[in-house]
Amino acid sequence: MTADAISPNPSGRPGDMLGWWRTSVIYQVYVRSFQDSDGDGVGDLGGVRARLPYLRSLGVDAIWLNPFYASPQHDHGYDVSDHLAVHHEYGDLAAFDRLVRDAHRLDLKVIVDVVPNHCSIEHAWFTAAVAAGPGSPERRRFHFADGRGQYGELPPNNWRSIFGGPAWHRISEPDGTPGQWYLHTFAPEQADFNWRHPEVTEHFEAVLRFWLDRGVDGLRIDVAHGLHKRDGLPDHEFAIDDELTGDPVNPHAWNQPEVHDVWRSWRALAEEYTEQTGRERVLIGEVGVLDTAELASYQRPDELHQSFFFEFLRAPWSAESLSQVIDRGLGTVAAHDSPVAWVLNNHDMPRSVTRYAGGAPGVSPGDVNLGLTRARAAALLMLALPGSVYLYQGEELGLPEVVDLPDAVLTDPMFRRTGGARRGRDGCRVPLPWTSAGDAFGFSPAGSHTPPWLPQPEWFAHYSVDRQLESGESMLQLYREALALRHRVRALAAGRFRWLSTEPGVLAFTRGDNVACVVNFSSRPVCAPVGSQLLLGSDPEVGDKVPPNGAGWFLLDAGS
Ligand code: GLC
Ligand code: MG
Repeated sequence: MTADAISPNPSGRPGDMLGWWRTSVIYQVYVRSFQDSDGDGVGDLGGVRARLPYLRSLGVDAIWLNPFYASPQHDHGYDVSDHLAVHHEYGDLAAFDRLVRDAHRLDLKVIVDVVPNHCSIEHAWFTAAVAAGPGSPERRRFHFADGRGQYGELPPNNWRSIFGGPAWHRISEPDGTPGQWYLHTFAPEQADFNWRHPEVTEHFEAVLRFWLDRGVDGLRIDVAHGLHKRDGLPDHEFAIDDELTGDPVNPHAWNQPEVHDVWRSWRALAEEYTEQTGRERVLIGEVGVLDTAELASYQRPDELHQSFFFEFLRAPWSAESLSQVIDRGLGTVAAHDSPVAWVLNNHDMPRSVTRYAGGAPGVSPGDVNLGLTRARAAALLMLALPGSVYLYQGEELGLPEVVDLPDAVLTDPMFRRTGGARRGRDGCRVPLPWTSAGDAFGFSPAGSHTPPWLPQPEWFAHYSVDRQLESGESMLQLYREALALRHRVRALAAGRFRWLSTEPGVLAFTRGDNVACVVNFSSRPVCAPVGSQLLLGSDPEVGDKVPPNGAGWFLLDAGS
């Protein structure tokens, strides 16, 4: 290897430099399913803390914690009843503080989730609104409206919920009579805030300050294309599409221009903390808009630092589709000097191994070996692209989706509300296997009598962390090596990106002057770049040739 391809700083970690988020690898922790420390079958903050050394040795730079706030758990924490408290199953504020302290000691940054579009119907504001009656100031913090029809028996408009069914639920008034309706773009247990109400704005500013004061490095913003609704809440001809597709497509319910004012004010707040503490605080949005240019508008220099680039996750396994998506990411999303946040997995989507295997929840696992081979190649592709990368727990283990969870154990509101038409997201949320033996594969402490909140299949043993640490060729080792190289070989994280011309069905590009990534989507082996030396292959056969469904990282001027 040549000297300038290798960073003189052996760790190469971004540390506290401004802009750490531009090239970081962030690991998403679904707290409920990561590690249970107290034997109740539910993951918790103590469990996350106990596994920080694992994350450190994996080589990630930061963690993002899914919501761990007080919640009746109808949507597993995305129905927040108190934004300033920890849900009792997950721990308490002291446990959170210990987690942040230890993460920072290990040079891991901590990002927490903020859910501003809606709150639980058990939130104090909502119960007060129901109690206060129609027309009260309390009701104006939400979208309460009288029903249509002679007796108000029909919803106020035709909007549909992303999780299925009408986006409205009718309450009983305090005197017991059938009453007004409230808007819920997700489950009925999640009431949408009225973002035109100044108290909502003030409330969230206080929430942000509370967690920033506790030392968090960033905020992941749930449904960042939501919040405001079109004034007057008009019907929309295609409102049903939200329910049919599960995507936010009703133009009256989503992506209103006013939402950008919120992101500008949150950005100013983040900058205030950055300036005062010298530690950069960042905002990453879950922006569900489907148009790439619209998505880019959320990450203008004075708005969110970044937003997840879901087009990459949605792209089928083909050179053509992925090259187009990468071009859109690098050309359009990053146009405002805000790097792309690549993502292949999260807690809302079937796992990539299963997608690439042609499987689907409730249908079949597909060809798992094929899916794994492709997921290995996809990991090298993603980790060689310019920008930051979000990994979802279990991705580094190559975990397939659990596609055959019985109906009776499914908890996702989407399953129930679509009458089973959409199976829901439980299959990517099954608790992690840490050990190949033991009752809950090490998810709960030895001797626990409560089973994990979702059942783990027998074959999880094969994917357990302990087994993968023993095998030099496991998915876990691949991720560890790739992340180590990304830190050591500066060009991989920071070098200029350039496509190389290749034969059809192959993607190849360089980073900086010396590093190339080649991914083979075709059915024939392809040659590695002339005179190159292999840095890392997605499987042992990668060398002078890259086999079908394989990928390699190569050092280009190895001969010089
Ligand atoms: C986001 C979350 C998802 C949740 C929804 C409603 O899409 O990622 O898990 O169900 O928002 O809060
Ligand atoms: Mg627990």
